[in-house]
Amino acid sequence: MESILNLMKCRRGVRQFADRAVPEKVLSKILEAAIYAPSGVGGAHILVVDDQELRKKIRSICEIGERQWVDSQPLSVRERIVAQPNFSYSLEFLETAPALLIVSTRPRDPERPYAVECAFLAVGYMLVMIEGLGLGTITYTPSVTDEKQSKILEELLGLPEGEKIQVILPVGYPESKPKHDTGKAQYSVFHNRFGEPFTLAT
Ligand SMILES: Cc1cc2nc3c(=O)[nH]c(=O)nc-3n(C[C@H](O)[C@H](O)[C@H](O)COP(=O)(O)O)c2cc1C
Repeated sequence: MESILNLMKCRRGVRQFADRAVPEKVLSKILEAAIYAPSGVGGAHILVVDDQELRKKIRSICEIGERQWVDSQPLSVRERIVAQPNFSYSLEFLETAPALLIVSTRPRDPERPYAVECAFLAVGYMLVMIEGLGLGTITYTPSVTDEKQSKILEELLGLPEGEKIQVILPVGYPESKPKHDTGKAQYSVFHNRFGEPFTLAT
């Protein structure tokens, strides 16, 4: 139990990958974790992309999308985004990671009411497994909003009609060991009533 919690505590986003292939057996473990995530009737699909040329093309389309998305934001938002430390339009990780796990669903299909939620649960399971296997990833949600670019990407991947990419997980061995600052607490936990803190037992 503690070891699972430790994996979660140690996980950090990885954007720089070593030039080292991920064995198929290892990749399969990550995919197996996704399969066991609660799926309801949602059913996310995962596309494994390890073709280098294809990763390059995906990177290029996503970078165009990022620029267009940032440019479409109100000035104050744009300024805040580009002022972030280490901000870059570069999505190099989409090309340098040896494998991309592209998670897609049909977000507007009434037959699959929890499709998006299921996709993200699968992502959560995979994040823990990726950490456990000594690999790294960054949760990347593409902002390809332009219809033309979106179509190019969907055709490139052969995405089934009505499916939308929810997340791309670039997976590989980290170039360097990520800094494990375990002190972060993003979520506030309350007790019986919002506002009343729940103190975590140690
Ligand atoms: C649902 C979700 C979507 C995200 N989408 C992006 C994204 O599109 N681009 C990006 O640079 N970071 C994105 N992030 C943030 C990174 O994945 C990462 O969590 C963040 O850089 C903080 O690093 P950490 O995971 O080490 O705490 C997303 C995070 C979450 C949880």
